[in-house]
Amino acid sequence: MQALDLLLNRSSQPRLQAPVPQGQALENIKQAALRAPDHACLTPWQFVVCQNQGLIRLGQVFEQAAIAAKKSDKDIARAPQLPMRAPMVIVTIAKYSEHEKVPWVEQIASASCAVHSMQMAALAQGFAGVWRTGSYAQDKNVKQAFRLSEQDEIVGFLYLGSSPISPLSKPKKASGDFFEHWD
Ligand SMILES: Cc1cc2nc3c(=O)[nH]c(=O)nc-3n(C[C@H](O)[C@H](O)[C@H](O)COP(=O)(O)O)c2cc1C
Repeated sequence: MQALDLLLNRSSQPRLQAPVPQGQALENIKQAALRAPDHACLTPWQFVVCQNQGLIRLGQVFEQAAIAAKKSDKDIARAPQLPMRAPMVIVTIAKYSEHEKVPWVEQIASASCAVHSMQMAALAQGFAGVWRTGSYAQDKNVKQAFRLSEQDEIVGFLYLGSSPISPLSKPKKASGDFFEHWD
């Protein structure tokens, strides 16, 4: 896919199935993440690629968090199923480190760019994906399971796979609603 086509038409696919990116395709996705803009080269990123047993493990983490948070029986039953909505989930963590010129928000922004880049790299190679968070991204038990420090954040669960259907084309937004020009 041409770069501009990709940028102008990126879209998410919530219904995902095999095949998943493997080998060089997966490595390209990882490398795209590692090209995210990064003020002062802090590399404030950590990624966990979950598939197969890893998805079950992630589901168990969600389930334990749901139990600890005293969620409803329905939510507790649903929690282990959430990662099963795709054959691969990449947990993306912003690892904060103190720096006089790079505040927390910039490190979150950098990790968020990495999620976007990974989705783009997946799409460019014919795969599909959706960036999700939900309450578990902020949950202290989930954060503990990934050994996050106080100021680290889970910025996304990137669900990846393939989609049997093409995304519906979405109406373009009017750029004038969002951009003004100072000429
Ligand atoms: C930080 C972040 C978190 C998101 N979390 C969720 C989520 O938990 N569930 C969801 O359905 N969509 C979530 N989305 C939105 C989807 O990724 C997607 O952008 C949205 O469904 C619109 O589709 P599109 O990307 O094709 O425009 C999130 C997006 C961002 C940027």
